[in-house]
Amino acid sequence: MSEPEDLEAPRRQTGDTGELAGRTFLVTGGNTGIGRATAAGLADLGGRVWIAARSRAKGEAAVAGIKASTGNEAVWFLPLDLADLDSVRACASAFLALGEPLHVLVNNAGVVRARGLTKQGFELMFGVNHLGHFALTNALLGCLTASAPARVVTVSSDSHYSARGIDFEALRRPERGITGLHGYAVSKLCNVLFSQELARRTADTGVTTYALHPGVVASDIWRRVPWPVRPLMMRRMLTVDEGAATSLYCATSPDVAQDSGKFYDKCAERAPSRVATPELAAELWKRSEEWTAAPS
Ligand SMILES: NC(=O)c1ccc[n+]([C@@H]2O[C@H](COP(=O)([O-])OP(=O)(O)OC[C@H]3O[C@@H](n4cnc5c(N)ncnc54)[C@H](OP(=O)(O)O)[C@@H]3O)[C@@H](O)[C@H]2O)c1
Repeated sequence: MSEPEDLEAPRRQTGDTGELAGRTFLVTGGNTGIGRATAAGLADLGGRVWIAARSRAKGEAAVAGIKASTGNEAVWFLPLDLADLDSVRACASAFLALGEPLHVLVNNAGVVRARGLTKQGFELMFGVNHLGHFALTNALLGCLTASAPARVVTVSSDSHYSARGIDFEALRRPERGITGLHGYAVSKLCNVLFSQELARRTADTGVTTYALHPGVVASDIWRRVPWPVRPLMMRRMLTVDEGAATSLYCATSPDVAQDSGKFYDKCAERAPSRVATPELAAELWKRSEEWTAAPS
């Protein structure tokens, strides 16, 4: 009689076996929340995973935790502060110097209700959520193209539906709204527009792009909501593993391999905001290019 299958046995991968064997991933903000759950999911399937994070201590702790929970040793840390374009360029250079292919870039890191400016003087949520990722993606685009088929997955939000457009002048000063949610919605609209325009620019290159809403997820992103509202609110939210499902779907599913530039929610396509027009996407791209041009 054959042994019963051990359905509970954890998958043990080393980066050279498993469904994602030989595939390389870079996840921004992979030290916590949805990003960490995404990185862990990719490592669990045998991917080679780089976690880009602004805190070395938190990034290395996440690497150690993911290695321990998945048995995959092919997980590494890269320093990245998206609020500083010099750090973004350094992160891209450090990755390129490894000589690795890059099959999937997951632009996941984000801030909400944050006030202030980035090092180069951009509204903080726009700077971190959009502009830093714009610079990172473009710096890695040659590598992604050379590694094709490759994907760029950008974690947006359904908050993007509440943005009515982009006031480009406002992106050069700190958020003024009382809740801080207006700037967040604009930054998440920028994520959608970026993904759409990137799809147009990478058509026929083998690079495909995806923007998504992860769901309402109990992560550190709610850290600025005061106690006791926060624990009550978080009880009804998705877990971070549930929140990583659509990122993992866009990063790996063969179902969407031929699609590009679309918006996803609950592992399914969803129409993005009507404000997300090709004209606005082109304007955002042009300005982002000017704003991220390396100093000569
Ligand atoms: N949670 C939700 O309900 C929800 C809903 C819609 C969309 N989202 C989106 O999902 C994504 C992940 O969010 P989350 O919920 O997992 O939040 P989270 O737990 O707060 O994680 C955010 C990640 O972004 C990183 N980050 C922030 N500023 C950074 C910077 N300047 N440079 C590099 N990394 C930086 C954080 O690093 P530190 O740990 O160092 O702060 C952290 O790793 C975000 O884009 C968010 O907008 C979340």
